[in-house]
Amino acid sequence: MLKDHSCGELRKEAVGAKVTLAGWVDRRRDHGGLIFIDLRDREGITQVVFDPETSADCHKTASEMRGEYVIQVTGEVSPRPKGTENPRLPTGDIEVIARSAVILNASKTPPFYINEEVEVEEGLRLKYRYLDLRRPRMKKNLELRHRVIKFVRDFMDARGFIDIDTPILTKSTPEGARDYLVPSRVHPGKFYALPQSPQQMKQLLMVAGVEKYFQIAKCFRDEDTRADRQPEFTQLDLEMSFIEVDDILKLMEELFTALVKEIKPEMKVLKPFPRLSYAEAMERYGTDKPDLRFAMELGDLTEIAARTDFTVFKDVIAKGGKVKGIRAPGCAGYSRSQLNELNRLVQEFGAAGLLTMSLGTEGGDLKDLTMEEVKSVAARFMTLEQVRQMAQRLGANKGDLLLIVAGDQKLVYTVLGELRRHMGQILNLAAPDLFAFAFIQDFPLLRWDGEARRWDSEHHPFTAPWEEDIPLMESDPEKVRGKHYDVVGNGYELGGGSIRIHTGELQRKIFRLLGYKDEEIDARFGHMLEAFEYGAPPHGGIALGLDRVIMLLAGEETIREVIAFPKNQSAADLTFDAPSSVSEQQLAELHLRLREER
Ligand code: AMO
Repeated sequence: MLKDHSCGELRKEAVGAKVTLAGWVDRRRDHGGLIFIDLRDREGITQVVFDPETSADCHKTASEMRGEYVIQVTGEVSPRPKGTENPRLPTGDIEVIARSAVILNASKTPPFYINEEVEVEEGLRLKYRYLDLRRPRMKKNLELRHRVIKFVRDFMDARGFIDIDTPILTKSTPEGARDYLVPSRVHPGKFYALPQSPQQMKQLLMVAGVEKYFQIAKCFRDEDTRADRQPEFTQLDLEMSFIEVDDILKLMEELFTALVKEIKPEMKVLKPFPRLSYAEAMERYGTDKPDLRFAMELGDLTEIAARTDFTVFKDVIAKGGKVKGIRAPGCAGYSRSQLNELNRLVQEFGAAGLLTMSLGTEGGDLKDLTMEEVKSVAARFMTLEQVRQMAQRLGANKGDLLLIVAGDQKLVYTVLGELRRHMGQILNLAAPDLFAFAFIQDFPLLRWDGEARRWDSEHHPFTAPWEEDIPLMESDPEKVRGKHYDVVGNGYELGGGSIRIHTGELQRKIFRLLGYKDEEIDARFGHMLEAFEYGAPPHGGIALGLDRVIMLLAGEETIREVIAFPKNQSAADLTFDAPSSVSEQQLAELHLRLREER
């Protein structure tokens, strides 16, 4: 080793010892005679002093050192002079008096500060990711990721799951996104698909008798990148045989509780995790991934609205629409521009507009509210009693602001769901020391794809329907519930899974319902249907988006912060400059020709 101690470990007890350290120059201060170098490695920072009187050579070498130079220093551990100790540094009581020093490598001036937490443009960070990862925040995130993944592996192993890796070059597995395709050289005109998930593989492992499988799996989906979405991401994928919904949910509750205890013991987890049906989640929070760290539930105002003289309400209700709202606590004093901003936001979410109702400027009991204090364009068309009823329905008091949206039910849910999330954020409503996990269940099995004019799976086509709903498959497909469950945390979808179909007959029926022709079913999924003919056990599983889980634990806002080399917003890898062009010869070997750019 080129060093015998790390830069984070020397303390007072080591005073007098001769040590060799190696690392990067974090900071260099030249005080005329003395040169001080903060020497950094993964474990921390140690101050090294170069005194020309101790070693003139060594001092000369130090005068050539600059930020991010890689150096090796041998010297003696010494107590820092009284009054110069640095209590913010674990090694702050000591310094190393250099006797010899070598510059192992020089460094250009980095394009951004590595030793200071400053905002740096993300494109630059991604291009020089190897420098970005030297920064303390990113180093912490990488270490956290390692600890989470190690914990997960140990947790699964302790419960009898075995880790099996599955191929990356494979055949399309539909998870609702576009596939990444890899052309085959050996089979002209044919393509592998990168797995959107190991879904079919893990089901085949159940047919193989594995019973309990898991994998930290890379998944690939060609879809728009977002804060919580990458084209390439990592799942904890697992599957079990001979289980029911409850078994998976219990396992997940144990996993998340233990994980938080291990990684963030200062945070609280509410147990048992609430279990909401999809319908209930939509009704109460307007979304299937509610942030349960705060209440602010949606309230249905349709019936009260129908009794007012406000034509906007009446028109919507006549068309079968709904009027719903939420309460923004203490926001009755919002200015015109604040209200306009909210209105602009709901339009962005797709609504025609937002109806706001200020309930007086000061807090107090609803029964003291007067009509003069109610500020809203709808106020003229409502009685005081109707205003009070709406306020009551939303749990509001004087001093609160009601945010009301009228329209088609689905739109109203989406808009209020987004608005609730926004208000929760700007009003800082979420309990800061809480991870609020929940399970969402009983999703519809199918959704109507208006554009393609066919039924599509709400999740993937391998999800089993509830037995009692199977008779509805022909008559009322939209009423069939799937044995699917999601796990959500702090407003993010952290994972999803289901009990699977395990008979060929039912699986074929579902494929047909999804509009596949028999030949297509056999070509794409024949291997699954055939496997089900050889004693497939009842089975089910789940996959967690590990990047999202780690993002939450790290307190970050995007998964890019917890992935060593993420893609940017337009799916490019800026460090490697990928995707990139390939040579004519490579194309020819793959039997491909590029179309002329138009
Ligand atoms: P699903 O498609 O719901 O299920 O994915 C499971 C979880 O993976 C995460 N996730 C993503 N994370 C980052 N970037 C993405 N592009 C991305 N897409 C999904 C989410 C999501 O909840 N085979 C099924 C699982 C099963 O049925 O067992 C599947 O992949 O956190």
